[in-house]
Amino acid sequence: AEPLRIALAGLGTVGAGVIRLIETNRDLLAARAGRELKVVAVSARDRAKDRGVDLSPYTWEDDMAALAARDDVDVVVELVGGADGPALALAHAALDNGKALVTANKAMIAHHGIALAESAEEQDVALKFEAAVGGGIPVVKGLREGTSANALERIYGILNGTCNYILSKMEDTGADFAEVLSEAQRLGYAEADPTFDIEGVDAAHKLAILAAIGFGARLDFAAVRTTGITQVKAADIAQADALGFVIRLIAMTDVEESDSGEPLLLQRVRPCLVSKGHPLASVDGPTNAVVAEGNFSGRLLFQGAGAGDGPTASAVVADLIDIARDEVGAPFSIPVAQLAAMQPTEPGHRIESTY
Ligand code: NAP
Ligand code: HSE
Repeated sequence: AEPLRIALAGLGTVGAGVIRLIETNRDLLAARAGRELKVVAVSARDRAKDRGVDLSPYTWEDDMAALAARDDVDVVVELVGGADGPALALAHAALDNGKALVTANKAMIAHHGIALAESAEEQDVALKFEAAVGGGIPVVKGLREGTSANALERIYGILNGTCNYILSKMEDTGADFAEVLSEAQRLGYAEADPTFDIEGVDAAHKLAILAAIGFGARLDFAAVRTTGITQVKAADIAQADALGFVIRLIAMTDVEESDSGEPLLLQRVRPCLVSKGHPLASVDGPTNAVVAEGNFSGRLLFQGAGAGDGPTASAVVADLIDIARDEVGAPFSIPVAQLAAMQPTEPGHRIESTY
C-alpha cells in the first residue's frame, strides 16, 4: 500500500516527540496502520535549533503555510499552538486543500472547532485531535466510540497536568507555587503562556471539547465558568489535608433540563476539595483523569499522563494510524449540523466544590 505522507508543523516538545515515536516504532506502526507512516516535510521557526532528533531525512519548509500546498502530502499535523494566528491559518489551508488535519491544539479546537469540522465535512477529509485532551489518554476516542451507546450523565476530572503537578507537589513538599510552576515549564508540561494553565483556561478548552463530544452540544467555550489555582495557598492545602481532602482543579460538565424542558449545559472549572477516598484524590503529578458516567456503562475512569512529549505524541500518532486505516468518524462524534446549541446554566448555578 502507498505510504501515508505526513507534513509536520511545530517541532517543540510534542513535534519532536512525534518524530521520535515514528522513528522508534516504525515497523510496529506500519503493521498496525497497514502502510508506512512517512514524514515528508517539517517546519518550525528556527531551522538551526537542536531538537534531539535527526531532521535530515525530511524537507524543511521555512514557510509553514507551504506544507498545506504540497502535492506530496496527505495529512498535515499542526503542533505549533495558539488559538489563532499561523496554526489556524495552516489548519484551514490544509483542509481547504483536501488534506487531513491532526492537531494537539485544544485552544484552536475550543475556539474554532466548529468551523474546522465544517471544512473537514465539506472536503470529506479527517479532522482528528485526540492529543488535545488528556495527553496520552485515549479519552476523545473513549467518549466518541467507547461510550457511544450511552446517554452520558456527567463528565468530570483533572484536565490540566501543570496544575495537578503544582498542587500535588505543593501538597507533598510544601514547595512554593512559583518554584513548582518553573519545574512544570522545564519538564514541557506547561503551555507557551503558562497563565493558560494556572488560570484554568487550558482545562476549560478541554472541557468544552469533551462536552461537545459527550453530549452532542455545539462547542461553547465562552460559556465555561473558570477559576484557576493562583489563589490556592499552602495553608489551604494543609487545612484541606486536616479535614481529609486534597485540592484538585476539577473540570465538570453535565446537561440539565430547564423548567420548560430545554437542555441546559453546565461547564465549570474550579479548584475543589476531593475526599481522600475518591479515585481523583490519588491522581498526582502531570497525570490527568476523566470520569464519565453513562446510563448503561456506569462510572468509567480514564487515567494517564496528561502532558509531556511521549504521551502526547502517542495520541497524535494514534490519530495518524486511524487516518491511514481510513477509520475516521465525525470529529465531534455526530455531524456538525446535528450538534445542539444548548443554553448555558445560570452563573452560580449548583456550584459543586467537593467530590
Ligand atoms: P512548543 O514546545 O512551544 O513547540 C511549538 C513549536 O511550534 C516549536 O517548534 C516552534 O518553533 C513552532 N512555532 C511556534 N510559532 C511558530 C510560527 N509562528 N511559525 C512556525 N513555527 C512556529 O509547544 P508544544 O508543547 O510542543 O505544544 C504544541 C501544541 O501541542 C500546542 O497546541 C499545545 O497546546 C499542544 N499540547 C502540548 C502538550 C504538552 O505536553 N506539551 C500536550 C498536549 C497538547 P521553534 O522550535 O523553532 O521555536
Ligand atoms: N499544558 C497542558 C497541561 C499540556 O499542563 O495539561 C497538555 O495539554
